Amino acid sequence: MPVFAAVDVIAAKRDRHVLTDEQIDWTIAGYTAGDIAEEQMSALLMAILLNGMTASEIARWTAAMIGSGIRLDLSGVGRPTVDKHSTGGVGDKISLPLAPLVAACGAAVPQLSGRGLGHTGGTLDKMESISGWNALLSPEQMIRQLTQVGAVICAASADLAPADRKLYALRDVTATVESIPMIAASIMSKKIAEGTDALVLDVKVGSGAFMKSPVQAAELARTMVELGAAHGVRASALLTDMSTPLGVAVGNAMEVAESLQVLAGGGPPDVVELTLALAREMVSLAGMDVDPAAVLASGAAMDSWRAMVAAQGGDPDSPLPVPRERHVVTASTSGVVSSLDAFAVGTASWRLGAGRARKEDPVQAAAGILCLVKPGDEVILGQPLFELHTDTPERFEPALADLAGALEIAPADTRVERRPLIIDVVR
Ligand code: URA
Repeated sequence: MPVFAAVDVIAAKRDRHVLTDEQIDWTIAGYTAGDIAEEQMSALLMAILLNGMTASEIARWTAAMIGSGIRLDLSGVGRPTVDKHSTGGVGDKISLPLAPLVAACGAAVPQLSGRGLGHTGGTLDKMESISGWNALLSPEQMIRQLTQVGAVICAASADLAPADRKLYALRDVTATVESIPMIAASIMSKKIAEGTDALVLDVKVGSGAFMKSPVQAAELARTMVELGAAHGVRASALLTDMSTPLGVAVGNAMEVAESLQVLAGGGPPDVVELTLALAREMVSLAGMDVDPAAVLASGAAMDSWRAMVAAQGGDPDSPLPVPRERHVVTASTSGVVSSLDAFAVGTASWRLGAGRARKEDPVQAAAGILCLVKPGDEVILGQPLFELHTDTPERFEPALADLAGALEIAPADTRVERRPLIIDVVR
């Protein structure tokens, strides 16, 4: 491989040149091996955030990230494989009911998931609220579970796209997460390396998402769908609203409880709608003719959930953790809820202990917020709006400060348009 000076690669991107394939391969290999200094990679990331990348640069950057580790071979699991990835949101527990539902439809779902950071929750943190459940599986254990149960939710092993592991941590502390090329390469390198045949992306749009506008979200969706196609992974994307939290529960154990309601045939309508929409897209990409709504109603998805949890050491019957302290926020006036801001609720839940400030911090399984009303709901003076949960009551005050402007109540006769949950589909 040709050798470059990192400073020349940084200067090229600073001056809006297109990086060559060799420069990209050298940069990813050198950074993964620890040969490129953190401050040099930080400068390059900021130059990429500010000046962007061409489609061919993104494709090469992604290929180099895949090549930094192993690519799993799932051809032996005996069913079509299809996965879902969300770009991250507030109250987004959809993976929990979705993976067992799609497994019950007959596909295999290899859900390699992450932990929460900042205001967005992480699937692994949610699943770890279940007593005994283990997130760390070897590739062999993962493939065995996929073959026997059809669904697995686990952490990506260290040898899958290791370049992303380092780069994501660096982006998080250098204000460079919100770069479309970097988000696309980060997500697609992990998903392509995991070996799935097909992938449905849930690209979130709104205050609680990394992409604040539908135009940005559509660009991210198109970029990822094209990267999938270039690597032989059939991909499509749903653009979905993240201006307000999904469902009622925001926080680890309470999101598990809400997912169980969905698997039992109930649950908040928006969570059910998105679970079914993503499941339909997944079974269709997997080439199957099955109605996920009928499978959900039959109880087969709940059976898959129980098998999936038990296969990873979890006790599906053990009670979920409960918080030591609760605090209820009530309406200071009557009227109609005109907005409920996802970012504010996500941040408040994080402050209550549901998320971590640093990667090594523990999370409180029982911490979080129940959003008891939704935009468009009528409320009366004194009605409960939020229920805050934590084990450490000194966290109520900062969380309440975040929630202060999170919910707006308009006069009772105001017409509040409910935003559609599914904004667009990119195939
Ligand atoms: N999720 C990822 O895995 N990577 C990103 O960059 C953003 C969301």
